[in-house]
Parts: sequence; C-alpha cells; structure tokens
Amino acid sequence: MMTQKAKMILEKDFKISEIDNRIYGSFIEHLGRAVYGGIYEPGHPQADENGFRQDVIEMVKELQVPIVRYPGGNFVSGYNWEDGVGPVENRPRRLELAWRTTETNEIGTNEFMKWAKLVNAEVNMAVNLGTRGIDAARNLVEYCNHPGGSYYSDLRISHGYKEPHKIKTWCLGNEMDGPWQIGHKTATEYGRIAQEAAKVMKWVDPTIELVACGSSYRNMPTFAEWEATVLDHTYDHVDYISLHQYYGNRDNDIKNYLALSLEMDDFIRSVISIADYIKAKKRGKKNINLSFDEWNVWYHSNEADKKIEPWSIAPPQLEDHYNFEDALLVGCMLITMLKHADRLKIACLAQLVNVIAPIMTEDNGEAWKQTIFYPYMHTSVYGRGVSLNPIISSPKYDSKDFTDVPYLESTAVYNEENEQLTIFAVNRHLEEGLHLECDIRNFEGYRVVEHIVLENDDLKQTNSVKGTPVAPHSNGNATSEGGQVTAVLPKLSWNVIRLAKN
Ligand code: AHR
Repeated sequence: MMTQKAKMILEKDFKISEIDNRIYGSFIEHLGRAVYGGIYEPGHPQADENGFRQDVIEMVKELQVPIVRYPGGNFVSGYNWEDGVGPVENRPRRLELAWRTTETNEIGTNEFMKWAKLVNAEVNMAVNLGTRGIDAARNLVEYCNHPGGSYYSDLRISHGYKEPHKIKTWCLGNEMDGPWQIGHKTATEYGRIAQEAAKVMKWVDPTIELVACGSSYRNMPTFAEWEATVLDHTYDHVDYISLHQYYGNRDNDIKNYLALSLEMDDFIRSVISIADYIKAKKRGKKNINLSFDEWNVWYHSNEADKKIEPWSIAPPQLEDHYNFEDALLVGCMLITMLKHADRLKIACLAQLVNVIAPIMTEDNGEAWKQTIFYPYMHTSVYGRGVSLNPIISSPKYDSKDFTDVPYLESTAVYNEENEQLTIFAVNRHLEEGLHLECDIRNFEGYRVVEHIVLENDDLKQTNSVKGTPVAPHSNGNATSEGGQVTAVLPKLSWNVIRLAKN
C-alpha cells in the first residue's frame, strides 16, 4: 500500500483558546419526528412517566450534548409560546406554516426544560421575531427566568414549575434574512427589532446572553452586508452573531465534497472580520463572538419531503440517512470549528433526533445511531479543554472548487486537568494511507492509550435499525516514543488518537 506523509507539531503553549463546551451543542425543533416520535413517544415501551423515550435519552447522554437549541428553526417564527404552557388539554392545535404540518402543542417550554435536565443539557431558547416581537420575547424571559411575584413568573409557578428555568442563552429569532421565513425582514427591519427585543429581554434578566441572526448560509445574496447592518444596530445589546450552513454531495464528487470544510473555515473568518469591523467602527470594547447554531449535511431527504401530505402530525421530514462520506465531512467540520475556538463559542449540530440527526428512532421500535453520530460523539467527549494550534505540513490536492486542499485535516485538544491530549484527524486521500509523524515535544510522559478509527470501503454505506456497519474500531496503529507520535491514518478515515500521561 502506498502512503503519503504528513507532519504535525503540538506544543502545550501554542494555544488557540479554552474551548467553550457549548460548541458541542445540538438542536431540537418542532419539526417532523424530532419532538413527537423522537424524544417524546408516550406508549413506547421505553417511555418514562413523562412520555420521554429513555433509549433516546441514553444516546443523547452518550453524546454529552451540553446545550440544545429549541424550539426552532423556521418553526419559531410562527410560534406562540403561550400555546405550549399550562394544562395540556387546553392547548390549541395550530397550523404550522413553516413546515405545513399540524402542531399539537403537547410538548412546550416546561416539558422541554424537563427533558433537557434529564439529558444534562442547557437550553438555547429562541424567541419569535417573525409574527411576534418585543412583548412576547420579554414575557417569555420573565416566564422562564424570573423567580416569582410577577404575572408571568407566577403563571409558570401555577403551571407547576416553582423554580425558574434560568435559561442563559437566547436566540433573537431565526434566519430572518430568508424569504422562506415567516415574517422575513430586511437587515434594517431585523436589526431594529432585534436591538429593541434584546434591550428589554436583558432588562428583565441582565444575566442572559443573546445571539443575533446572521445569514442563513454563506451564499445568501445579502451575506456580509446583512451581518454588518444587523450588528450596527445590535452591537451594544448582543453577545453573538449566528452562522448557519448545510452541505451535500449533490454532484457525487468526493474530492470536492470533503473540501467543503474549507469553505466553512472561510465563512467563519469572514464573519469574525465583519464583527470586528463593527467593533472598530463603534470604538467598541467587546468582541462579538460566533454561534454556529445550525450546521450539518442536509440533502438526502430533499426529494422525499416533497411528497409529504400537508397538515399531517409529525410526519417523517428531513430524515437524511447519512453515509460514511457524510461522517468524514462532519469530522472535518468539527475540526474546523475547534480551530476557531477563540471566537466560536456556541455551535449546534442540526439536529439531534430523526430530523437531519445523529440519532434515529423507529416508531414504536428501536433507536439507532447514524454514521455522523461517531465524529460528533468523539469530539464532544474527548474534545474538552484547550484547543491547540498545531503546525501542520501535509500534501495537498485540487478539486473542482478548491485549491490546496490538505489531505490531512487535523487538530488537537489538551485537557490539562485530566492530563489528556487528543488528536482528531481526517485523511482525505481516496486511495492512500497517510503516514503521520506528530512531534509532541513538551508533552513529556504522554503515551498513546487508544487510536480510534472510523473507516469503510464503501463511501455510500449507511447505518440502519438493522445494524451499524459504519462504526468505529480501536485498532488504529498509533504509537508514541521519544516525544513523537507515529500513525498511519487509513485512506478516507476519521481518527481519534488519545494520549494520556503515563
Ligand atoms: O434545521 C432545519 C431548518 O434549516 C431550520 O428550521 C432552519 O432554520 C434552517 O433553514
């Protein structure tokens, strides 16, 4: 077997930043079978007393998801949060216009907060700035976060939730730049309403953090100008600007597909520049950080979704069945985000269950893991600590849209407290293994404890309820000696090389 050669240097002091664990967040929208039939299926043999599927809870816990964005997505722009609180029997059924379904409102804010607690996650709550505005937003903050003694906090208490939910992270609407959005706005219209909503939401609870909507994706015609205008209005009142991006291998061009994380990198750099431009313009002191609150692969289910009967309840929408190559790109995207840990503080894999998700459920049947489950889980579990800045030299290739794509996509995370060093790496080469030599110089006494590999001969291989042919093994050949880690990363593979002190 031919091998290419790549080199990497890791230094304890070459730090990008402490990683904000919220970059391993995810997303549950009232869409398809994410809530109904996903996290909640009363009558299922695995359902607990609340109707929450315990098999799903266990898998979410395996992922160690620190924060979950809720309740949308496009859904939030037509949502009346009041429909989802109080006695379930009084809750209205609504036409859900974003996805043309019927929303029963059986699950709402309080039930979701209860579920989030069961999976040990915070909630990143979005407010409706489509059909609603400042009033509904500040009332929801009062309902969720105020201890008591006011109309909405007492309403929450009367609904059986004495303790405030203490939600820290809030999104000011969703994808307001998109014509598909209920209540779509120009940048100025959105900038103004986001500014005023942000102001009063923080007057209700000054401890909250707010995310303003950036562009729905990098190729939106309004991209860049949108961010600049929105931040011009909101700079003093918000903490983050959002990014959303989904990819797909529509042309079946694997070399180009796996290079898309370079575009993601460029997108992140551009948004940082725009945020810094506004900071400079305002002679500001604070940085606006980034929340990549929707990212993933999404394209497999596009055709199936056109056949869905309008106004059905929780139909199977956006149910992408991910293959092996999707897991490789997801791995590259995770590495890319880690490389920006100094400014990227929140990210949400969109989504978590059934809807473009790492976890799938069968109605009244079992839950199973998609291919993308694994790189997401590995980074979330082993990628806590300091994001290091590796010096990498790798052979490169050109593809349809990209030049100088490194075969090696890699980074490392140092967990000083647990004395662990973890290298995450993708080999993009289609035919050849990559011989990696990694100089770990001042990590004295660190040894390889595990080399996890996700590989498969068939790029199109998917998992299903019948089995998970795409699953990692721990038979990678990484070794360490004399401050040097050596490994062969198999062709087209996701790798996690775990080192610990002695
Ligand atoms: O995650 C699915 C959808 O993608 C979300 O509702 C929307 O925000 C985005 O367009």
